[in-house]
Amino acid sequence: METELTRKLGIRYPIFLAPMAGGPTTPELVAAVSNAGGLGSLGAGYLSPEQLRGAIRAIRERTDRPFGVNLFVPEQAAESEETIGSMNRHLDRYRGELGIPANPPVRQASEPFEEQTQVLVEERVPVFSFTFGLPPRELIRSMKRKGIFVVGTATTVDEAIRAEEAGVDAIVAQGGEAGGHRGTFLKEVSESMIGTMALVPQAVDQVSIPVIAAGGIMDGRGLAASLALGAAAAQMGTAFLACPESGAHDAHKRKLLSSKEDSTEVTRAYSGKAARGIRTKFMSDMERYPGTIPAYPIQNAMTRDIRQAAAEANNPEYMSLWAGQGLRLAGGRPAADIVRRTVDQADELFHKLANFGSPTG
Ligand SMILES: Cc1cc2nc3c(=O)[nH]c(=O)nc-3n(C[C@H](O)[C@H](O)[C@H](O)COP(=O)(O)O)c2cc1C
Repeated sequence: METELTRKLGIRYPIFLAPMAGGPTTPELVAAVSNAGGLGSLGAGYLSPEQLRGAIRAIRERTDRPFGVNLFVPEQAAESEETIGSMNRHLDRYRGELGIPANPPVRQASEPFEEQTQVLVEERVPVFSFTFGLPPRELIRSMKRKGIFVVGTATTVDEAIRAEEAGVDAIVAQGGEAGGHRGTFLKEVSESMIGTMALVPQAVDQVSIPVIAAGGIMDGRGLAASLALGAAAAQMGTAFLACPESGAHDAHKRKLLSSKEDSTEVTRAYSGKAARGIRTKFMSDMERYPGTIPAYPIQNAMTRDIRQAAAEANNPEYMSLWAGQGLRLAGGRPAADIVRRTVDQADELFHKLANFGSPTG
């Protein structure tokens, strides 16, 4: 199961843990996947530079294998006082239900990207991946000069081409099935909902760097299919979310294990940016909101107190329950088991397919 990419990265299997910001990708989970022969990835978009350094060191205490760190390319959003004020008043009704103060001051919307990338350089992380656009070319160049392998994120072939032009070493091609926020940056989300099965081979044909398939890949069948489509590896998020090593909230894990392929929807309600998650009361309510939902990252900062209070109250209906469409295949096994089973199942499939059509097959 070696590919050019696994050789370059020094990993055993073409399996990436999807970086999942907001808690799921704990140092324990990242290290467990790397120790099992895949590439663990820390979703660090919401970590301050100090927290980021601490998390990298915690990973290194648990593994000496390669791993990745993922950051959000910063976005500027400007919204009128009126849009923000009217959303704040709307959100106060949920704050009332959860017993937290109305109209709170909004904390800073995003973490300082340049300082975060500085930490990655100082700590010499093996792999840097990013989403929500393209960082300056000079940053990509300087990371590569320091021996860091740089991975971009694309949801259309045009985005993959732009990422290759910007100088990345590999691209995650994220299909519309994927859980959480996707990296769409050229067109509207509605024009960028390409399924993984359609996106991966078209991206593979149009770029000359390795493509990593993501979105709906849950087991060895998904891995085998990804490699058959020309991907150099498969990136799996939802498959690892309910692991014991995952930092996802217990209420989120319970929902993951009881949901189905039709339980998710794409919503802007929580963050102002489209993301796929298990349907909640908050999502359904917000569909009826008559005003404008402030853009990311403003809305994300505005709903933070609500999501946190809901998590403390074990109330999943106001939490963001990010998940992809492969939900029936999610389980609660340890991460190393998932890597092992995925590899074994894909191996078995390759043997079966190699005999396909032969008289003994
Ligand atoms: C809870 C959650 C958080 C995520 N956070 C990030 C993130 O911080 N950065 C990123 O590039 N992708 C993020 N994603 C998307 C994943 O990288 C990946 O593309 C997706 O999980 C693949 O689809 P799957 O969930 O069907 O496996 C997130 C996904 C989930 C489910």
